[in-house]
Amino acid sequence: MTIPKIAIFTDDAGWHGKQLQQEFKKLGYDSVFTSLTECRFDLENQKVPIFIPEFENELPVAAFVRGVAGGSLEEVILYLDFLHALKILGIPVYNDACAIERSVDKAMTSFLLHHAGIKTPETWVLRDREIALKFAKNELLNGNFVISKPLFGSQGEGIRRIEKMTDLPWITATHGVYYLQRFIKSAGDGFSDYRVFVINGEVVATMRRRGKSWLNNVAKGASCERVNPSVEMMNLAIQATNLLQMAYAGVDILEDQNGHLNVIEINSVPAWKGLESVCDVSIAELLARDVIFKISNS
Ligand SMILES: Nc1ncnc2c1ncn2[C@@H]1O[C@H](COP(=O)(O)OP(=O)(O)O)[C@@H](O)[C@H]1O
Ligand SMILES: [Mg+2]
Repeated sequence: MTIPKIAIFTDDAGWHGKQLQQEFKKLGYDSVFTSLTECRFDLENQKVPIFIPEFENELPVAAFVRGVAGGSLEEVILYLDFLHALKILGIPVYNDACAIERSVDKAMTSFLLHHAGIKTPETWVLRDREIALKFAKNELLNGNFVISKPLFGSQGEGIRRIEKMTDLPWITATHGVYYLQRFIKSAGDGFSDYRVFVINGEVVATMRRRGKSWLNNVAKGASCERVNPSVEMMNLAIQATNLLQMAYAGVDILEDQNGHLNVIEINSVPAWKGLESVCDVSIAELLARDVIFKISNS
């Protein structure tokens, strides 16, 4: 009997990929690292319609997305097309293309959070530089700092804080788009936010991240602390994950100085190395179990 094979889409397997592979193995599944950049649609009779390297005229039993490569708009759309198509073919895709599209795009995430009435910082997304400067200036005049982010950013890359009128010229568009957001001062001393990891509608681990500055990304040197989340924080993370219809997510939550929780971001391809270093759970094991659960229910 052949062992069922899972595709782990990534361009760099790394620690996370290897962890997943080990856990799948323990559960009786083979998994291979493969890249969306090398997939193709082969739309001929008698062939599976998607060619995936390492899969000879067959499809994986599930696809785990650990990374979607960048590229031209056409290239990225093609990579997402493969994920959409796999789902249409009945293959569990974890997280699926819709979830990835909604969460990678910070404008859409902000809109959906706002629309659902989930507290998130005031945000403006637009193309016109003069109007962007006007919004930012207005915020400064009202005593707020402004954050400028790339629409598709991650790990704190390219984020800037505008603190005074003379900073205004530093506001930059990324690929023509300005994403501006009110800066929220975090509760307590220094800077911190929370990363809440949700799998299949349940919070499985939470940490507080303390940034060296206001940027609390682990990739930017933030330290990780174990915390027990409040019921309110857990419910908020679950609500945000459900809103973006994600199988699992890493939710960034910032508690402001009034004790209110703000959802900053919902990551569909979150890392868990930092989180696991302060928690007792094996995230890879929980993820692998959930993928297998989805295979058996598909
Ligand atoms: N509006 C904000 N107010 C205060 N801090 C923020 C705000 N937006 C982001 N940050 C800080 O910057 C970090 C990175 O922002 P985020 O939107 O999560 O982008 P990335 O995708 O790069 O992680 C957050 O974890 C938070 O610490
Ligand atoms: Mg983030």
